[in-house]
Amino acid sequence: MKRIIISLSVLGVVLVAAGCNTTESSRNLADPMVPGKVLAQQVCSNCHGIDGNSINPTFPKLAGQQAEYIVSELKEFKSHDRSDPAGYQYMWGISRSLTDKQITELAEYFSSQKNRPDKSDNAKLLAEGEDIFKHGIPGGQTPACATCHGKDGAGGGNGVFPRIAGQHADYIAKQLWVFKNTNQRPDGTLMKVITNGIPKSITPEQIKAVSLYLSTI
Ligand code: HEC
Ligand code: HEC
Repeated sequence: MKRIIISLSVLGVVLVAAGCNTTESSRNLADPMVPGKVLAQQVCSNCHGIDGNSINPTFPKLAGQQAEYIVSELKEFKSHDRSDPAGYQYMWGISRSLTDKQITELAEYFSSQKNRPDKSDNAKLLAEGEDIFKHGIPGGQTPACATCHGKDGAGGGNGVFPRIAGQHADYIAKQLWVFKNTNQRPDGTLMKVITNGIPKSITPEQIKAVSLYLSTI
């Protein structure tokens, strides 16, 4: 009798362990069998939100982002080519063991979620930002953001141009500074021209305005 109880409890332990290991509930980033969607909902969601609409602006929204852009960023974090500080602190480790298949599935999951814009009632700054987005910076070399990122800011060009509409203002501003002052983003050549346009560079006030405007559309 005692023996049966022991083997039943052993069986129980084995079943529980097996339960934790199923690829439908695994948080194991190093297991190539876990589907991207499972990782998205159980790991990425902690920072980027379950539907890709993060709350904290440290974490960019991924909802409605261009799928090809998500793929290319994940590969650049994995290869360490994208090295802006928050990128390496948070994303190098996370992307280390992802397979190409998982990366594609993660991109499909987040790109098919609906972006929810932020809100602001700073009418003056919003108007200034809208002007920069639609018409560029007068007298300078900074063209309208809409030229590349699309009329509605949703991105395009097979993901060469990311969605910037509805992204957190603080994240947009931070990235504009990264493009302006560093070479930490390897595909940033076009954005360097924009942020550092000769003869007139985009100013801190203009960065604030266009970032705030974009976060609300
Ligand atoms: C612990 C928090 C955290 C987790 C978990 C996390 N990320 Fe991130 N992720 C970040 C931060 C912070 C950034 C912004 C890095 C920067 O500023 O360069 C980021 C950036 C990204 C970007 C680039 C977005 C852009 O607009 O350029 C992608 C794509 C991304 N993460 C995908 C994922 C995926 C997919 C997962 C799950 C496998 C994941 N992240 C898990 C914190 C996290
Ligand atoms: C000539 C084309 C072009 C124009 C004009 C342009 N961009 Fe970009 N932008 C790009 C490309 C290409 C990337 C992707 C860079 C990369 O993959 O690292 C990008 C990336 C970005 C990112 C990073 C997005 C992310 O999720 O990390 C932001 C923010 C951004 N652009 C904002 C702007 C703003 C604001 C303007 C207008 C002042 C603008 N861009 C005008 C081509 C352009």
